[in-house]
Amino acid sequence: MPVYSEKVMQHFMNPHNVGEIEDADGVGEIGNPVCGDMMTFYIKVKDNRIEDVKYKTFGCGAAIAVSSMASDMVKGKTLQEALLVTPAKVAQELEGLPKNKLHCSNLGAQALRKAIRNYAINNKIEIPGLTDNEEIEEEEHACGT
Ligand code: FES
Repeated sequence: MPVYSEKVMQHFMNPHNVGEIEDADGVGEIGNPVCGDMMTFYIKVKDNRIEDVKYKTFGCGAAIAVSSMASDMVKGKTLQEALLVTPAKVAQELEGLPKNKLHCSNLGAQALRKAIRNYAINNKIEIPGLTDNEEIEEEEHACGT
């Protein structure tokens, strides 16, 4: 049984920004074929800023805590600032994740990046730090407990 930080437990027990944005400006979904965990991020953008962000996560406790923290980290940020939110930064803000759960932090940042990419495509704009034909690798991971 992995030992989670207090921060992870707080976000897992009381996740922030859960839900769906019906008229989202960008949607990003990522899934892991190994464990079947799925995460979808929705963003609402105004004046180049993430005005609202929500997500639906079907996954482990760490994935839920990661979604909650990642959403907090990008809310109100510019798209460029949001692109700087990496899996490592999310894990750091959560005061660390057990080694066998570090892979869970990938899903949050990747789903968010996909949502921003979706927004860029929908609006035919280029966002520095996000290339036009960027392919986001869905990392394979084994889902240990
Ligand atoms: Fe697959 Fe956490 S995301 S076990």
